[in-house]
Amino acid sequence: MLQGKRVLLRGLELEDLDEIMTHWNDWEVKRFLMLTIPHSRQEEEEFIRSTWRDRQEGKAYIFGIETIQEKKLIGSLGLHNVDWRNRTAEFGIAIWNKQYWEQGLGAEATSLTLKYAFEQLNLNRVELRVFTFNERAKAMYTKVGFQQNGKRRKAVFRDGTYHDEFLMDYLKEEWDKAAKSH
Ligand SMILES: CC(C)(COP(=O)(O)OP(=O)(O)OC[C@H]1O[C@@H](n2cnc3c(N)ncnc32)[C@H](O)[C@@H]1OP(=O)(O)O)[C@@H](O)C(=O)NCCC(=O)NCCS
Repeated sequence: MLQGKRVLLRGLELEDLDEIMTHWNDWEVKRFLMLTIPHSRQEEEEFIRSTWRDRQEGKAYIFGIETIQEKKLIGSLGLHNVDWRNRTAEFGIAIWNKQYWEQGLGAEATSLTLKYAFEQLNLNRVELRVFTFNERAKAMYTKVGFQQNGKRRKAVFRDGTYHDEFLMDYLKEEWDKAAKSH
């Protein structure tokens, strides 16, 4: 368990399925994510099981985001495609329960993951992709310390048109520097 001030990160459990199915297929959430198709309960159950396997095999570290006060699961995040030789991983996050957007919880959960990536897994670089129309996510990543390093032009077809996608990354040396200045 990775403990923050208002949220903690923990492994997903099969008991989380009800909460996941209540929110996960909401188009307002999905339009910001890669996979837009509606998922069934069984697919989500398989997904939860895959997170356990991937973690054991060191392929991906996917966690649920839980509020500490209410003990409510509000979303999930993860380090995907971990490349141990080059010490990189790709970050992704979704707070599926929209009631919890824009309260700083995404930033806290992302910082907790970066701390784990750099200080426990000994990764050197964490990168992510964000659709250019996702202003909220881009603002959150920038606030946490990610830097924009490129753009994939017209990489995403969404709502009937092509959109660009920003590439952002965070290096371990930047994390160390930020930690020293606090
Ligand atoms: C993206 C997401 C994880 C961010 O988490 P969050 O808890 O809502 O974000 P935070 O509250 O920590 O930060 C959001 C910031 O965006 C800013 N923001 C919101 N709307 C904005 C807009 N239209 N333009 C610019 N900034 C905006 C907020 O002011 C806030 O910054 P501040 O704290 O400096 O005021 C969450 O909203 C979410 O899961 N969204 C749906 C799925 C998604 O987009 N996932 C990311 C895919 S790359």
